[in-house]
Amino acid sequence: MSIAELLGMEPGASEAFGKLGLGYTESPGSPSLRAAISRLYTSIGPENVLVTSGAEEAIFLFMHAALAPGDHLVVHQPCYQSLAEVARTAGCEVTAWQAREESAWALDPDELPRLVRPSTRAIVLNVPHNPTGFLMSRESFLRTVAFAEARGLVLFSDEVYRGLEHAPAGRLPPACDAGPSAISLGVMSKTYGLPGLRIGWVATRNEDLRARMAELKDYTTICASAPSEFLAEVALRHAESLAERNRGIIADNIRLLDDFFVRHQDIFSWHRPIAGPIGFPRFLPGEAGGFCRDLVEARGVLLAPGVLFGGPEGCFRIGFGRRSMPEALAHLEMFVEQRLVDSRGPGAISFGRG
Ligand SMILES: Cc1ncc(COP(=O)(O)O)c(C=O)c1O
Repeated sequence: MSIAELLGMEPGASEAFGKLGLGYTESPGSPSLRAAISRLYTSIGPENVLVTSGAEEAIFLFMHAALAPGDHLVVHQPCYQSLAEVARTAGCEVTAWQAREESAWALDPDELPRLVRPSTRAIVLNVPHNPTGFLMSRESFLRTVAFAEARGLVLFSDEVYRGLEHAPAGRLPPACDAGPSAISLGVMSKTYGLPGLRIGWVATRNEDLRARMAELKDYTTICASAPSEFLAEVALRHAESLAERNRGIIADNIRLLDDFFVRHQDIFSWHRPIAGPIGFPRFLPGEAGGFCRDLVEARGVLLAPGVLFGGPEGCFRIGFGRRSMPEALAHLEMFVEQRLVDSRGPGAISFGRG
């Protein structure tokens, strides 16, 4: 989406944007942006929100403000890399809470008591999930929130894909509304499709932790960009229509992927994602890294090997949140079909070199 398109959603927004001052903004985020963000939640006021430069800064601030070297945390696995790696580089120990491929990438809250230790400080969860497209049931989610609260652990809930559930009935309550110590992570990048704004946030009633993250922000970015804060506020006034537009793109694309995976079930298997623009299929002939490398070299289509997310080496991540996905899928299909032809011919070329 262009700036002009976004400003065009609201009469007068373009003129107001032109007059915007370029001084520093308020460190926790502008009061009006924090108010707009707080309206996404039921128990959160503007004072419970800290605006960050993308979700990435919030992850960094949380891991450094909430944890000390030697602390232990339990992290949903496979995962978006920084949810585990930032903690590791801060000197913490990470135990995986493993999503099970055989259960369509479900997480089992019954495993949690065995995963925590006396030194555990936090549980990191990602719902809806990157890279599998899994979404917990409400019951499992609320059990996880209750478990963390009962044990005095902080639940850091990465909810950057919240609002992109394929069936709206599955939408979970935000963790910050479900538990007084829990932290919800949000961002303009995913559900609203505006990653170039680099506006993210945390929402929490855990005032001590929010304050410590806010202090640390003085040493990372100080404050967010004024134009981005303005544009994020415009976007949030149209949050539902932006999310609906992106859910529409996802719904169209996933139908194409369904057909693709049926046509090529001898090569791929997948658990159809239930939320978000990402899935985690398995490449049945073996290790997916070589296949991904050959594909990007031959066709310029980038799939991400599952090992980058701490997942099985046979899996890869596929994104379907962009309007251009059908074109990329056509290239993937040509690549697969060409390889099938080649593999039947003399000197049989196999899938992937790795
Ligand atoms: C689960 C998850 N959390 C956080 C982020 C970081 O978001 P941003 O790039 O907007 O900072 C991403 C980005 O891909 C993500 O997938």
